[in-house]
Amino acid sequence: MKAFQYESFGLDGLKLVDVAEPTPGPREAAVRFRAASLNYRDLLFAWGVYNPRAKFPTIPLSDGAGEVTAVGSEVTRWKVGDRVCPIFAQGWLEGPYNSAKAGTTLGAGDLPGVLREVGCFDEQSLVRIPEHLSYEEAATLPCAGVTAWNSLVVFGNLQAGETVLTLGTGGVSIFALQLAKLHGARVIATSSSDEKLARVRGMGADETINYKSTPDWEKEVLRLTGGVGVDHVVEVGGAGTIGKSIAAARIAGKISVIGVLAQGEGINPMFLLMKTLALQGIFVGSREMFEHLNSAISVAQLRPVIDRTFAFEEAVEALKHMEAGSHFAKIVLRY
Ligand SMILES: NC(=O)c1ccc[n+]([C@@H]2O[C@H](COP(=O)([O-])OP(=O)(O)OC[C@H]3O[C@@H](n4cnc5c(N)ncnc54)[C@H](OP(=O)(O)O)[C@@H]3O)[C@@H](O)[C@H]2O)c1
Repeated sequence: MKAFQYESFGLDGLKLVDVAEPTPGPREAAVRFRAASLNYRDLLFAWGVYNPRAKFPTIPLSDGAGEVTAVGSEVTRWKVGDRVCPIFAQGWLEGPYNSAKAGTTLGAGDLPGVLREVGCFDEQSLVRIPEHLSYEEAATLPCAGVTAWNSLVVFGNLQAGETVLTLGTGGVSIFALQLAKLHGARVIATSSSDEKLARVRGMGADETINYKSTPDWEKEVLRLTGGVGVDHVVEVGGAGTIGKSIAAARIAGKISVIGVLAQGEGINPMFLLMKTLALQGIFVGSREMFEHLNSAISVAQLRPVIDRTFAFEEAVEALKHMEAGSHFAKIVLRY
């Protein structure tokens, strides 16, 4: 079968090769992938930042969707033809994250990723795709969708009428916008692009701020909330934005610490304690969270937003498209 594997760090090190097709063990299902999606993590990995000790060759990407084509003799959860996604951390089925579940993620050096035609997975480590979604749409869910769900619904316990701040228009932030609106929240969204801000307003964002033309965007968030601040921040910027996110949050607000998109000075702990803020590091989520997300998506008939779809063979071009940063929501590969 065909697979892409890194032979060294750097997008030049990503090569299309022929490898042996795996056959499922007794408790595994074989999945013929039909689509995959990209996450910023895949760029961090390519740059050698995410897992500098990764061993080569290694197959990248965590997020795939496909069809079960064979099952092992002891498999009871799946049959041939079922539409599934592997979960991001194969060992995190439910409950809190812990050291036993760490080191089981796909596509960044722990376990082989989904940028291959076929993969075999423990039957427990797959979820069923919502019926109304295509494979391309379903492939957007395992990392970005589950992360937004974990942030707002699990940690955030988001309530109707609360206000959510989203930063930029990448994969996680657009899912956060969709899930926040689904829960009856008010959304303040930022972006570097007025065109993208018009798009998020079309998706229900209540207020928008261009963080390039309004570098003091935290002050604008405070103005829009009557000086109080927002209940939740979906913090994807990291050191470059977290100080402003803390300023934009209300007293006793919640900040999901998710990403590392922007360089900067980080945190002054004084503001955290004076505002009694809750900061929670988020690492995607469990199978249980993915299943709850899928139930919500099915009931609401929610559709993930796809920026652009590339062919499987164009994986390197797709990663370069993400690197360029002009995308809106998710970049997808079709196999
Ligand atoms: N902890 C976890 O479990 C987890 C899970 C998923 C992702 N992440 C992390 O979360 C971050 C987002 O991931 P993603 O896959 O959604 O990325 P992505 O799709 O590549 O998002 C890129 C977008 O982020 C926005 N952005 C860049 N710099 C910004 C800044 N200084 N302020 C505000 N927005 C900025 C830009 O939006 P505009 O063009 O609109 O300005 C850009 O298009 C990454 O750091 C990723 O590693 C973490």
